[in-house]
Amino acid sequence: MIEQVIKIVRNASKLMTTDITIEQKGNESNFVTSADVNVQLYLEEQLISLVPNSTFLGEESVHGASEGEYIWVVDPIDGTANFIRGLGTSVISVGLVKNGKPYLGVIYDPYKNEMFYAERGKGAFLNGKQIHVSERDFRHSIICSAASQYDKTLAQPCFNILQKIFYQADDFRRFGAAAIEMAYLAAGRIELFFEIRLFPWDMAAGAVIIEEAGGMIEYLYEEELPLNRPAGIIVANNKTNHETIKRIVYGELIEKPY
Ligand code: 2AM
Ligand code: CA
Repeated sequence: MIEQVIKIVRNASKLMTTDITIEQKGNESNFVTSADVNVQLYLEEQLISLVPNSTFLGEESVHGASEGEYIWVVDPIDGTANFIRGLGTSVISVGLVKNGKPYLGVIYDPYKNEMFYAERGKGAFLNGKQIHVSERDFRHSIICSAASQYDKTLAQPCFNILQKIFYQADDFRRFGAAAIEMAYLAAGRIELFFEIRLFPWDMAAGAVIIEEAGGMIEYLYEEELPLNRPAGIIVANNKTNHETIKRIVYGELIEKPY
């Protein structure tokens, strides 16, 4: 099935044209474009017909599903701000959740023609080659993290956490698209990832790809990836680094932040 999902995602990326209309949604830094909507409509139609009885939860959905045996969890364009600004760092992210757990993930970067994908139990791949998380220790790690720009009341603890990690690790990066950062961690390009508040469509695909590449994930104060509300996420390339980043994050966030 994953080969068909890859094909559908590659076709959908042709709808990421620059001839777009832009609308503001929610707060002043949050936008949706006609490309986000067109990519999602195409994916919804194709993916639902690929798996009969599956349901669909997309970032631009009017009514999203969060229950059912098979749920597609889709961000049609992750990195919309990058897309609008022509920064060339945006991806399509398609996850399939089976009985409540991320089961399959496809993340496609059409700018670099990089297709990251994984199916539970079958390994993670980039353009046909198996990928693994890196072996770097904490001191030599790069962390990707944003600072909750959509809800800046949560920004200060993010900066505190990032500052602590920066001094103990190598460096940080911020690509402006959570799914790209998760794919990069799986491919061994970065080692640590933390976000205080993301939505399921930002994480579902990346979660399978990271775990199949040998990485470790914990959702902040949650047992599993919740599909009906946002959640924080802590990721590392191995158990030792995961223990270290978790100590730093939970040390700053002694209570559930929202
Ligand atoms: P988007 O590009 O699909 O909007 C920015 O660092 C990351 O946060 C992107 O993955 C972005 O996804 C995501 N994001 C978008 N809206 C958000 C919101 N309201 N709260 C938290 N994260 C959001
Ligand atoms: Ca999006």
